[in-house]
Amino acid sequence: MKKYTISVIGGDGIGPEVIAEGVKILKEVAVLDGGMRFEFKDYPWGCEYYLKEGRMMPEDGLRRLRDSDAIFLGAVGYPGVPDHISLWGLLLAIRKEFDQYVNLRPVKLLKGAPCPLVGVDRADIDMTFVRENSEGEYAGSGSWLFKGKPHETVIQNGVFSRHGTERIIRYAYELARKEGKTLTSVSKGNALNYSMVFWDQIFQEVGKDYPDVKTSSCLVDAASMFMVKDPKRFQVVVTSNLFGDILTDLGAAIAGGMGLAAGANLNPEREYPSMFEPIHGSAPDIAGTGKANPLATVWSVSQLLDFLGYQDWGAKLLTVIEDLLVERAVLTPDLGGKATTSQVGDEVVKKLKELK
Ligand code: NAD
Ligand code: IPM
Ligand code: MN
Repeated sequence: MKKYTISVIGGDGIGPEVIAEGVKILKEVAVLDGGMRFEFKDYPWGCEYYLKEGRMMPEDGLRRLRDSDAIFLGAVGYPGVPDHISLWGLLLAIRKEFDQYVNLRPVKLLKGAPCPLVGVDRADIDMTFVRENSEGEYAGSGSWLFKGKPHETVIQNGVFSRHGTERIIRYAYELARKEGKTLTSVSKGNALNYSMVFWDQIFQEVGKDYPDVKTSSCLVDAASMFMVKDPKRFQVVVTSNLFGDILTDLGAAIAGGMGLAAGANLNPEREYPSMFEPIHGSAPDIAGTGKANPLATVWSVSQLLDFLGYQDWGAKLLTVIEDLLVERAVLTPDLGGKATTSQVGDEVVKKLKELK
């Protein structure tokens, strides 16, 4: 029997609501599989914790997560705590300290998922975003000078190291090669005359090792336009931290909505635990109402199972999500249904049992 320790951080708003469904489903997978067991370690960290303790997680928080096989996270951030405090104190701290430099975000239109684009077939939206997740525009480097004075000045640096840029681009080339897909680099060398010129250069350099991978480069403004007008141009996409953040919300919008968008924060070398989460936030507007769609979280559970080596279970979960979307009987309001978060979770469990 394989045993896995999963650190669970529900976080804020709808985070704990959707994570509860993910945990329910992981438990069911373990029962049905018979060969694996999960031990869940719950950490009540987030904005409420901050209001009591003055920090988003305890001082030794990262040490406590360190030995887990994976981290399963809901969402972080809530009105009452400034976002840059909450996010830098928890989510970004984990991504950085555990060197989860790959943010892998599928933008795939599943069977039955709604798509607002006209004249686009389901097969046209099938991308994998490889977002740099450790530096770039999110490096946290800068200064705030002359605070409160008339000549107050802020500087936010984009930090692109050769090490950081090469490894993310190489990861994307490897993925494209493995999957027989094209690779598009999204950058902005025309305006960002240091960081993105460097990025484009590294994309060329690393590409010499992958003559078999068909590539293209696209400026980020044009990429946003093409994602809407001609999404089939994109298969594997590699891009910087901020561009990847923005483009994957756009990706969510064309592939079923925020309630269906998942992401994995990977430390590919497995030196540190990787983290799995829906890409949406804490949705304060619907928190506590039972309206949150847990399917993005279910997809991130699928990514988690893939990462642990259970690709068969990962694939089964995607099949179950598609069954729910096609049947339309048990869906949350964002997808036009009337079901609650936990009813959708229960339905996933029921369908998993039937599949078995
Ligand atoms: P959001 O993703 O929380 O919400 C945007 C819109 O999408 C809202 O209308 C919301 O109701 C809807 N939505 C999101 N997830 C949904 C789901 N599962 N089911 C149904 N509808 C869903 O983005 P926001 O409002 O910009 O941010 C709210 C807070 O979350 C902020 O504090 C922000 O910093 C934080 N945030 C955290 C993460 C994260 O932890 N990964 C990601 C994004 C935003
Ligand atoms: C995401 C989120 C985070 C990001 C925020 C909350 C810091 O938007 O995971 O997409 O920008 O990476
Ligand atoms: Mn985002």
